[in-house]
This record gives sequence, structure tokens and C-alpha cells, in this order.
Amino acid sequence: MDRYQQFTTSGVGRVLVKRLGLPNPVPLRRYRPGEPVLTGPALVGGGPLSEVVARVLAGAGIETCVEPVATHGALVFDASDLSTVEDLGQLHDFFHPVLRSLDRCGRVVVLGALPERVDGVARVAQRALAGFVRSVGKELGRGSTAQLVYAAPGAEIESTLRFLLSARSAYVDGQVIRVGAHGGSAAPVDWNAPLAGKTALVTGASRGIGAAIAEVLAREGAHVVALDIPAQGADLAAVANRVGGTSLQLDITSPEAPVRLADHLRIRHGGVDIVVHNAGITRDKKLANMKRGAWDSVVAVNLASQLRINDALLAEDVLCPGGRIVGVSSIAGIAGNTGQANYATSKAGVIGMVDAYAARLAERGCTINAVAPGFIETRMTAAVPLLIREAGRRMNSLAQGGLPVDVAETVAWYANPGSGAVNGNVVRVCGQSLLGA
Ligand SMILES: NC(=O)c1ccc[n+]([C@@H]2O[C@H](COP(=O)([O-])OP(=O)(O)OC[C@H]3O[C@@H](n4cnc5c(N)ncnc54)[C@H](O)[C@@H]3O)[C@@H](O)[C@H]2O)c1
Repeated sequence: MDRYQQFTTSGVGRVLVKRLGLPNPVPLRRYRPGEPVLTGPALVGGGPLSEVVARVLAGAGIETCVEPVATHGALVFDASDLSTVEDLGQLHDFFHPVLRSLDRCGRVVVLGALPERVDGVARVAQRALAGFVRSVGKELGRGSTAQLVYAAPGAEIESTLRFLLSARSAYVDGQVIRVGAHGGSAAPVDWNAPLAGKTALVTGASRGIGAAIAEVLAREGAHVVALDIPAQGADLAAVANRVGGTSLQLDITSPEAPVRLADHLRIRHGGVDIVVHNAGITRDKKLANMKRGAWDSVVAVNLASQLRINDALLAEDVLCPGGRIVGVSSIAGIAGNTGQANYATSKAGVIGMVDAYAARLAERGCTINAVAPGFIETRMTAAVPLLIREAGRRMNSLAQGGLPVDVAETVAWYANPGSGAVNGNVVRVCGQSLLGA
């Protein structure tokens, strides 16, 4: 809990929040092994996918109901067969009577059909779902979230539903996720250790978000190769030890890095299953004051090195069949940001990397996706001046900053063997930030 959150839970704080309409950040429910997925039953309604949904939820140990009860942990509606503008009224019919029954940190999930796969008015109706879900996300409050999943016919949606309905997606809100038809998804043997037997490379793993990604991927069963620059060697070794992985000191911008990395992963580990390009730097200045060196170094770390590493891993087949590449973008790469022309260029480039590689990776049974974090509580954001920091923290539907683990859980969902049809997505981990919405 940050200081303001502590204040809002005090006696005076509670009164002021109510009287002045101040932001009221609810402590988010986060994943803890052994805890129930939801705090109450999921009400499931709508079209043809609701049977699939009920089966998936039962498999995940989630109680479902088709008639409303007093309190729901989630509201799930299959809107994939809505094909006229009039049909959209079914959203109102389903959600209006039950929205108030959604528990704290509850979940709203709407399922739709990929708009480009349907024609005419049906495409209009499917596209309209995004506006509905994003508005509901803004209205829910109390730590609850709303998401839209566009799925191709017969798409494997289990890993995505499990992620979105659980506390693992605590800081993911107002997102539109696309799940394709193909992709060689194979449900993990054990949903509690879905990455058992996999090798994961995490760059920039010595601290912050990278260290959290290493921890979560290891918790999910992967052997983690934690990479960072030599200057971070001590912290890096500590992370690698903590997660039972190995460390690799390497500057990803050095000319020999891609070959060294490919050799290391092939010789020591027989290849790599999951590559997380997390290493990133900022060198902020308004463009008029920015030296060329600040531009070059940011683009080199955040974008150019990742393309070179991908190409080396693909050229030598070091990325194993069913492999996963995950980029770390930023809401600055979506919205732009004052003083960050270099950073936002590189992070928008990461989204371009996802677009450019998705089809090529699908051909190999692999995927590439990105996370776009918003305000995450790390050293990077602790260095932001107080007022800007406080605005950044509150300007989202959940009225708080996210934690590194929130980004890590999203990476783990992409990495899951059951997420083979989740390809080419950029999911923001930003509490539905107002920036770049
Ligand atoms: N913190 C946030 O709110 C936020 C928001 C959006 C995006 N991001 C992105 O998330 C990622 C992690 O951010 P963080 O806040 O944990 O940052 P951080 O500065 O704490 O960690 C970044 C790590 O990358 C490593 N690194 C830098 N250059 C490298 C190089 N050439 N070779 C190898 N490693 C290198 C650093 O040593 C460091 O350990 C970054 O890509 C960042 O741009 C962060």
C-alpha cells in the first residue's frame, strides 16, 4: 500500500474520500498459490461459447451459475453471436441487473468474435463491444476489472480465461485481447507448474520488473537464465540464486551479444523456450535539448539489440518449437510522452516488432506478444518528481500504481503452453491508464 492508500483507510481519510470524491484505491487481490481463483461464483451468460466457458471454469475450480446470486466473483458474457446493432441491447440486459452484485476485485469478461472474420453489420456489432468493455472498466471501481476477448472460431481460450479471471491479472484492465485459431496450443500437464521443463531467458533481470519476471517464470516451473550487464553482476547473481536459475553477464548492445547468447543457450540449455526482452533504459530530455547519444543509446538497448537477438535465435533454430518471445513496451510507446521522444520511439518500435514477427513465428508454432506497462512501482518511477509521480499513480481506473509482479504474471500467461493461439497482442498492464487509452 502506498502512503495515500494508507491514508484512505484511516478514519479521517475515509470521510474525506467520500466527501471530496477523492480517488479510492482498493488493495488489489494478487495471486497466492492455494487461494481460490475467485471470491464468489461466476455468472455465465450469452451465446454459443458459454458452454465452453463453463467447462473451462469448472476445470479451473471456479464455481459457475446461470442465474444471479447475491454476490458474484465474475460476470462472463459471450457476445460472439451478436450480429446486429439491436443485439447489443443484450449487453445491457445481462449486465445492468447484476453489476452491483460484483464482489471487490471482481472480474468482467466479454467474449467476442474477431471483427475482421465477420462481415457487414456483425462486424459493426463486434467492434462496438470494445467501447462497452472499456466504459464498464472505468465504472466498476473497488479493484474490479473488465476485459474483452476476441476469439476465432474454435480458439483455445482456456489459458486466457484462467489468467483474466484470476488475481494474476490484478492490474490488467480495459484490455482487448485477440486469440487466433491456430498456434499449437497444448494445455499444460500441470496448471500449477505450466512451465516445467522450459528454459526462459530474461534480460535486465537483476532488479525491478525483470527480477519479478524471473521469479514468476521460475515459480511456474521454468529454468531461468537471468541476463544483465556486468556492472549489475552481484544483484544478478542474487536473483539467479533466489530463483534456482543461472546468470549471464552480457551487454545486449555489444556487437557479439547475439552470437554469444545463441551459443550459450544452445550449448548449455539445448535451446530456449521463452525469451523476455525486458532490459530497457531511459535518457529523458525534450527533443530540442536531446543529444544524439541519448537517442542512440535508448534505441540500441530498447529496440535494435532485440531485433538482432531475435534474428540470431531464429536463424540458428535456438528458439525451440512452441517458443515464446515477449517484448516489454510501455504506455509511452502508445501515447507518447514529453521528454521521451527517444524512449517512446523505441517502445512503439517494440509494438512494431510484434506486428512484424507474428506471422513468421506462427509458421514455426511460436508466438510473439508484448506487455505495455503503465505506472509500475520501481526505481524507474521512484525517480520521477513527486507531483508527476502522484498524478501517474492515480490517473487510472484502479487509482494506484501496479507492481512488478503484475507485469510478470502477464508475461507468464503469454509463456504458458496453452497460449499458443495468443499471438501478436500488446496488452497494457496499466490499470486502464488514461494515457494512451
Ligand atoms: N517501471 C515502469 O513503470 C515501466 C513502465 C513502462 C515500461 N517499463 C519497461 O520495463 C522494463 C523494466 O523496467 P524497470 O522499471 O524494471 O527498469 P530498471 O532500470 O529497474 O531495470 C532495467 C534493467 O535492464 C538492465 N539493462 C540496461 N541496459 C542493458 C544492456 N545493455 N544489457 C543488458 N541489460 C541491460 C539494467 O541493468 C537493469 O537491471 C524496461 O524495458 C522499461 O522500459 C517500465
